[in-house]
Amino acid sequence: MNIQRKKMGIIGAGHVGSHVGLVLSLQGVCDEIVMVDIDKEKAFSQALDCMDAAPFCPNRVTITSGEMEDLKDADMVVISVGSIIAGDRLAERDISVGLVKQVIPDLMKTGFNGFILVITNPCDIITYAVWKLSGLPSHKVIGTGTGLDSSRLRRILSKHSGVDPHSIDAYMIGEHGDSQFAALSCATFGGKKMTELMEEKPEVFGKLDFDAISHEAAQAGWEVFKGKKSTEFGIACTLARLANAIYRNEKKIFPVSALFNGEYGYSGVYAGVPAVVGKDGVEYLIELPLSEDEKKKLDFTMTTIKKHVDSTGL
Ligand code: 2OP
Repeated sequence: MNIQRKKMGIIGAGHVGSHVGLVLSLQGVCDEIVMVDIDKEKAFSQALDCMDAAPFCPNRVTITSGEMEDLKDADMVVISVGSIIAGDRLAERDISVGLVKQVIPDLMKTGFNGFILVITNPCDIITYAVWKLSGLPSHKVIGTGTGLDSSRLRRILSKHSGVDPHSIDAYMIGEHGDSQFAALSCATFGGKKMTELMEEKPEVFGKLDFDAISHEAAQAGWEVFKGKKSTEFGIACTLARLANAIYRNEKKIFPVSALFNGEYGYSGVYAGVPAVVGKDGVEYLIELPLSEDEKKKLDFTMTTIKKHVDSTGL
């Protein structure tokens, strides 16, 4: 028998990183979590607070704070460094690039060879930067991308239609930012196209306005931010879902920020798109049959991401 402990690291133990630690523990995703932060006292307190929840978790879990060296044998490391700038993820670009330029070489120097899951904004640009800086293969460097936005989209579609979000398959595509869009021409409810349901059941689905829904989902993060000055629960659950898909080799179709390699006609750009996620990380991207209007929106969001990646000089 080859029993292994599942170990994850979290670099950046602020609002987001600490909630990731809590959700990973509560959902029994791994057995050991090490939190690393430049503010060692904060990392210590976050880890201890999580440990106070450990007796309520489904499996035995150990959460500690530590040094980069402690992450060398982690299966996955989460990057949640940086802090939010209200209303403008792209404005975080230079600070975030500076932070990953510090932490990623230090992480790689330890001999770490696992997966890197990137949350730090602007997510697609930073995931690209982490891929470049780490030297890891692209399937092992994954951004949470539009995973969170797609969850918000399903929440919004559920609110408008009354249908359980579990029965809705719908994706936000592109930048985890203002230029993302909802690929609603491909959205399905229980396997049935939403566009067909709009014709067949106008009393339930007829009032769905594509542009309004897409905008509402893209801006939903700021709606959350408005009252609490942070967003953390949704992203922590998104990350935990992604980590679980890798650990359990689920081959789950999940929206993540992944490197395009000719899909949809784009290459060398990280962007949010549904992908098959399993033990090797991103196994392949799903090419949705986008409408002509959605293809234009895809071009806009890909160009936006590429422009910002180019500005980083990486
Ligand atoms: C979010 O969408 C602000 O990127 C953060 O919750």
